[in-house]
Amino acid sequence: MIDLGRNYMCGITGYTGINQAGPILLEGLRRLEYRGYDSAGIAIQSESKKDEAGENGGDNTSCTLKMLKATGKVSHLADKFEAEPDFKGVCGIGHTRWATHGVPSDTNAHPHLSADGKFAVVHNGIIENFADIRAELQKYGIEFKSETDTEVIVQLLAYNYKGNFKKALMKTIARLTGSYAIGVISDEHPGTIFAAKQASPLIIGIGIGENYFASDITALVSNTKNVIDLDDGEVAEITPDEVKVFDHTGKEIDKEIRHINWDIASAEKSGYEHFMMKEIMEQPHALKATIEPRVKDETIVFDEIKGLDMKKFNRVHITACGSAYHAGCVGRAIIESLCKIQVEAEVASELRYRDPVMDEKTLVIVISQSGETADTIAAMKECKYKGATVLAIVNVVGSSIAKLADYCIYTWAGPEIAVATTKGYTTQVALLAMFAVWAAGELKTISHGAYTSMVIDIMHLPERAQRALDLNTKVKKMADKYYDNQSLFFIGRNMDYAVALEGSLKLKEISYLHSEAYAAGELKHGTIALIEPGRLVVALCCYEKLFEKTVSNIQQVKARGAEVLAVAHEGNRSIFQEADDVLLVPQTDPLLVPVIEIIPLQLFAYYVAKKNGCDIDKPKNLAKSVTVE
Ligand code: G6P
Repeated sequence: MIDLGRNYMCGITGYTGINQAGPILLEGLRRLEYRGYDSAGIAIQSESKKDEAGENGGDNTSCTLKMLKATGKVSHLADKFEAEPDFKGVCGIGHTRWATHGVPSDTNAHPHLSADGKFAVVHNGIIENFADIRAELQKYGIEFKSETDTEVIVQLLAYNYKGNFKKALMKTIARLTGSYAIGVISDEHPGTIFAAKQASPLIIGIGIGENYFASDITALVSNTKNVIDLDDGEVAEITPDEVKVFDHTGKEIDKEIRHINWDIASAEKSGYEHFMMKEIMEQPHALKATIEPRVKDETIVFDEIKGLDMKKFNRVHITACGSAYHAGCVGRAIIESLCKIQVEAEVASELRYRDPVMDEKTLVIVISQSGETADTIAAMKECKYKGATVLAIVNVVGSSIAKLADYCIYTWAGPEIAVATTKGYTTQVALLAMFAVWAAGELKTISHGAYTSMVIDIMHLPERAQRALDLNTKVKKMADKYYDNQSLFFIGRNMDYAVALEGSLKLKEISYLHSEAYAAGELKHGTIALIEPGRLVVALCCYEKLFEKTVSNIQQVKARGAEVLAVAHEGNRSIFQEADDVLLVPQTDPLLVPVIEIIPLQLFAYYVAKKNGCDIDKPKNLAKSVTVE
């Protein structure tokens, strides 16, 4: 499996120099806002005081660590800062938090302080073995304040500290598994920040008489354009005049200084022109973040739904809006196929007013990226009222749907900024597939061999998504060829039809072209009348059981002059005889096809919209989170 961290959640930054750290840290956090967050905080070393005993690792002064935190916007934090004239110091760390472990709150916001008040940490990533470390430290009487995985880092650091900051940190990170980019300060080492990185991003900014660190260039670019990229396993000691980098054994190493010439706008998007493209490209990372923590020894483990008894239900009802509904259509097919239970999928705006037949034997799955969609909330309330158990699949931690549901599984896709969802959708589908396999295991409707084979295929999804991205560098050419079609069709059967729904929506929402998704076999019952010479039909051909049937439909539209752009698996030679153009994706289990097959269609929609000069990240008339009916 490729090594990708859950690296897009949260932002960290740090400063040490001669100027007041507070305003610099707040400015850095403002620059990191685009990453998405729900709380923020800063810690500084306040005024130094003389350390008479001179015991502190060579330093002869010490200071007090002070913290400020706020739930919500960085501007709230800035207001708190303005109200604290004594919050002064020239070295500090800052954080924007996007909740994963524990709801957004002042207590869970970073920085976190060790129980003895000696160390403060900011962290981006997930410490997978945090529960073990916490239990161990609690045995020694150390009290934890927050629900976060991060707090174990700072408590363990304080526990390991015997006067040498670097040694204690190296010993601490050697115990951590998972991903982290961390910045740490201590009350005994004024002016010094230690930073460490494993599978989460961290760069160091080099100034004159002042140095910085941050999750990405955005937070630094207005102060310096000279950076050092910290690599996995490395630790940096940052002081105003010097940056020393050590390898995992503690040996000092030489690092190159890189000069960057990005402006702030391109830095926010990691160099991509639009958030949508950045998020399309993030899908392998996002899928890995969704999948990997929930697979242990080829078994799917959902700690979040302990107590959910699948045997209690005689049917499943899936409800959602927009792309989340399209993910639900895929989920219906996977759950039905693996769990042998009746499943329906319905848009929430219909379900809420339909007086559906359901009771305590019904499991309702609601799907929502934002967790705030008004129709979805109303539908889930209606279902709960009727006695159903509600399981939510949500991306935004602590959102209304997450709170209202009986059970909630988070997609952990990271913040999605572009209005048109991409990684939100693919992670929803991946999670639905994982749920279906888990539920089939509970219900004993799947053989051991089939279970293991599905889990292995699910584990391969991140690298297959990467392959789908790599294979589709020519999508732009296709967009250049077809961008001025004013009306087009997406056709497919079974899983391919579910993907057609999403591919068609992607195109229309960002390029404003008229597009319709049709079950390929249904086309001949009326809609084929609209096929005329030059009309583009996008034919989805990855569901191989029905490939020959879809080929017949391709021939029917071609006979009427349509041009056909097909999406098929690598290795499918015969499609080249049928279609005018072909986009290829890697093979996967038929039930997992949508996660991979949608990728070239997202790219196609993106490039068609770009060619048509549309506002890709903020399409007209649309909102990311629709909180009205
Ligand atoms: C809006 C967005 C869509 C999204 C739908 C559901 O219409 O533009 O991209 O699929 O809402 O949003 P949710 O946050 O509930 O997934």
